[in-house]
Amino acid sequence: MNSTSTTSSVTWYRRPRPNRAPDGFAARLEDAIDLLKLAASYTPCAFAQSLSAEDMVIFHLIAEHNLPIQAIALDTGRLPEATLELWNRVEAMYSRRIERIEPTAAHIEELVDMRADSGLYESKTVRAYCCELRKTAPLRAALSGKQAWVTGLRRAQSTGRANVGTQEFDTSFQLLKFNPLINWADEDVWFYIDKRHIPHNSLYEIGYASIGCDPCTRPIRENEHPRAGRWWWEQSASDSIHSECGIHVATFANSTIKDVP
Ligand code: ADX
Repeated sequence: MNSTSTTSSVTWYRRPRPNRAPDGFAARLEDAIDLLKLAASYTPCAFAQSLSAEDMVIFHLIAEHNLPIQAIALDTGRLPEATLELWNRVEAMYSRRIERIEPTAAHIEELVDMRADSGLYESKTVRAYCCELRKTAPLRAALSGKQAWVTGLRRAQSTGRANVGTQEFDTSFQLLKFNPLINWADEDVWFYIDKRHIPHNSLYEIGYASIGCDPCTRPIRENEHPRAGRWWWEQSASDSIHSECGIHVATFANSTIKDVP
């Protein structure tokens, strides 16, 4: 697909392609590696790998430094084909498995019975329940018994994420949470991906800036908020905090917690 529509003058989002390192990049990279090493010292530690651009950077660093952190991905049953294709490609390329975490059959049946696939566009409660059963509940089970988890959250992603710290105690899952790319800008992520030839989701090349489940993700226009393509029907022009799936709620509730040195 061309980044410019043929039927209108709409310009779709184009991902950054920095040809030199953003200012301060080397220090942010070093901080990320240090934090991952610290996270790895809490065993067992899991990395929640959504196959997003930021998560590919983290996955690459974990592999490069051979850190004992197990990558887990929530296969909601609704991931885009391109995400599933990347999953296979990445496992083969790095010779590292990404553990597949799935919703229970009973939960899927419940969602089918309530017609959640269409209901989620009509009711935020239904949408949030779908996220709960397809993501949060399986994640809670997967993190049980772990000491720490790692995520790709970044402050630049939304105003709701602007005060998130590099590490915190996650009260909803009762374990430590590490966010190694918290201070990375979009340009940092894409500079490193291009520099190290890190594989990434092909949807980023056709206007997607943030990628989740297929029914709840769409491409965005240039100058739209990077998360405007997630649960777009729930957003209003005045919304400064964009919708979330719920797996980071404790983080946002505690987002006065700043970096722990
Ligand atoms: S969400 O709350 O809106 O879905 P987002 O897509 O920005 O979150 O991802 C933020 C972080 O949550 C990711 O970097 C990753 O650590 C974790 N995450 C989100 N979706 C998944 C998934 N399907 N599998 C594993 N981790 C995920």
